[in-house]
Amino acid sequence: MANQVYEAARTVIAVREYQDKEVPEEALRRIVEAAHLTASASNAQPWHFILVRQRDGLRKLGSLIRTGPYVAGAAAAVIVAYERKNSLGVSDASRAIQSMILTAWGDGVGSNWAGWVGMESVRKEFGLPDSHDVIAVVPLGYPRRNVIGKKRRKPFNEVVSAERFGTPFA
Ligand SMILES: Cc1cc2nc3c(=O)[nH]c(=O)nc-3n(C[C@H](O)[C@H](O)[C@H](O)COP(=O)(O)O)c2cc1C
Repeated sequence: MANQVYEAARTVIAVREYQDKEVPEEALRRIVEAAHLTASASNAQPWHFILVRQRDGLRKLGSLIRTGPYVAGAAAAVIVAYERKNSLGVSDASRAIQSMILTAWGDGVGSNWAGWVGMESVRKEFGLPDSHDVIAVVPLGYPRRNVIGKKRRKPFNEVVSAERFGTPFA
């Protein structure tokens, strides 16, 4: 029997071009719910997620994220922020981001991780308090092109060992 979770991990890929087609509310809700349900260290949940659907907001995001201008063309995007005072906040938020990316993929929705910590302009523009730092923006949309199977990764045995470093897995 196919393992659908593994299939999602195997095939998910960064999507930066989107169809001009709305993502249903139900799917968007599932995506942010997946973030909300993600585990965090000590269950602290030191995060906040802002779902942006309006074109003005998406365009603004595209203009503010140097490495993600394509966010402007997404159907929606999630701004992910973590509490600065939490030393594990980056890890917790990263895990929530992966939850969203995989859940979106399960609905046929492409996404990506855009930007990195310190996006002060995004924080201010979208009203997040100074206690929070924006770690990423996750654009969402149906892929414009077929992107299945285009992953480029280091060879498996270069990054995986069995029992001790350097012993090939198989
Ligand atoms: C922590 C992190 C930060 C990233 N930042 C960006 C970014 O700012 N802009 C972008 O377009 N992609 C970004 N990406 C996506 C990666 O570049 C992409 O996933 C990687 O090159 C592998 O490509 P693939 O997902 O298509 O296999 C980021 C991914 C991660 C995990």
